Amino acid sequence: MATKTAEKSRTSRPPEVKDQPLFIGGKWQDSVSGKTFATVNPATGKTICQVAEGDKADIDLAVKAARKAFEAGPWPKMSASERGRLLHKLADLIEQHTDELAALESLDNGKPLVDSRTADLPLTIKCYRYYAGWTDKIHGKTIPVEGDFFCYTRHEPVGVVGQIIPWNFPLLMQAWKWGPALAAGCTIVLKPAEQTPLTALRVAALAQEAGFPDGVVSVVPGFGPTAGAALSGHLDVDKVAFTGEYTTGQLIMEAAAKSNLKRVSLELGGKSPNIVFADADLDAAVEGAYFGLFFNQGQCCCAGSRLFVEDKVHDQLVEKLVKKAKARKVGDPFQADTEQGPQVSQEQFDKVMGFIEVGKKEGAKLLTGGNRIGKEGYFIEPTVFDNVTDEMRIAKEEIFGPVMNVLKFKDLNEVVRRSNQTFYGLAAAVWTRDINKAHRLANGLRAGTVWVNCYDVFDAAAPFGGYKMSGQGRELGEYALELYTEVKTVYVALG
Ligand code: NAI
Ligand code: MG
Repeated sequence: MATKTAEKSRTSRPPEVKDQPLFIGGKWQDSVSGKTFATVNPATGKTICQVAEGDKADIDLAVKAARKAFEAGPWPKMSASERGRLLHKLADLIEQHTDELAALESLDNGKPLVDSRTADLPLTIKCYRYYAGWTDKIHGKTIPVEGDFFCYTRHEPVGVVGQIIPWNFPLLMQAWKWGPALAAGCTIVLKPAEQTPLTALRVAALAQEAGFPDGVVSVVPGFGPTAGAALSGHLDVDKVAFTGEYTTGQLIMEAAAKSNLKRVSLELGGKSPNIVFADADLDAAVEGAYFGLFFNQGQCCCAGSRLFVEDKVHDQLVEKLVKKAKARKVGDPFQADTEQGPQVSQEQFDKVMGFIEVGKKEGAKLLTGGNRIGKEGYFIEPTVFDNVTDEMRIAKEEIFGPVMNVLKFKDLNEVVRRSNQTFYGLAAAVWTRDINKAHRLANGLRAGTVWVNCYDVFDAAAPFGGYKMSGQGRELGEYALELYTEVKTVYVALG
């Protein structure tokens, strides 16, 4: 909180940005087609700069560079601890460039600068440092097999990995993908989201400065159906990691299956229940519900987008929430006291506004918000719907915007059943002072993360990922290393 207050006194201006090339095999170059695309400032709707548009031919070049770096040159010869030193150096460089990167992130994505500075950047830096510590701790076992053999396992890098990330936390998603892959010794082709390519390219430059050999990381901005599809369907890519919409995850899995059965890991969003019992510390629950939904303009895969409130405290809790939502300061991301910026793009703005109309038509009660703010940029009022029921579309589908849905419940078994009535299973939270209830819910909720009396707590050391259609595999922590390693069994006849 102390840092947050200090941050509020800092103001900044959006940086000037030059047109951007691709970063392939250690070289900064135009796309093979010569095409470029505009990246847009969502606060104004105006073009920030042109970015070289990668497509199949550029992905091919980047994969070739990654293959070469994986098999020859300094990277495969480098000791594990030396890889760790490079990752530490990258973390240090990102830290030294915090102000620049935070400003670039806020310009391209629209998130308040204070959030970039106090959340995205520190989490990104910690993630690289955490995996820097893993590089020389990835090891196999010796196994007491029958017969006269010495048997052991080696955990080897899976190879060339393709990584496709979204626009909601560009720097952080890059860190979640690069950290474990580099710790394991893989080489990488990253395709950032077309809405937010700028910070990924800047981090690539810092990786080059840190001393990562050419081809270990390449960054190829471009669109999903072209560059993204080329990467997930590439015959010489050993693994693809993706974060984004579940329907895109299905396309990626299909492309992986039909090309070379490359390994796939997916993180695909959710419709996470946030459950408030009447015995909870209600002020804390209000804070958690508010932050858990409105943070990052509501553009969080784990947003608490189904707020289940025990009927006894419903009126009281909703009153407090509406008051907070109404007071939320929406506006220029570069203004020091802004709490909410614009949605990332026109497309996302339209999608969210569409859901608000659907909510009204379905008979949910609009308590506050629901409108666009201003005439330029993609700003939406913090919106709260009450009397939401399970079968409404706004209670089932990912809205990915500042739209809160309040549902009522009466008892524990009922709320567990209703919470799990979704094809998603990314996260869940429960607010109660009763330890038995807390544990019964922590066990009963089908979700990859359960928060008890808190929301949106993240740590590079703790795994994150989804049950059901929220994904496959776990990122962060020791578990993420499994995504980037193959296990080799070696038998040696002792003769
Ligand atoms: P998306 O899943 O289409 O895009 C994410 C990334 O996948 C981008 O880099 C995009 O270029 C790439 N991509 C798109 N189509 C592809 C394809 N056929 N092959 C390979 N890569 C492809 O998400 P989009 O369209 O930006 O947002 C749509 C919705 O997805 C959002 O409204 C939200 O509900 C959800 N979403 C969830 C996220 C999460 O954190 N789980 C993040 C972003 C979006
Ligand atoms: Mg899409």
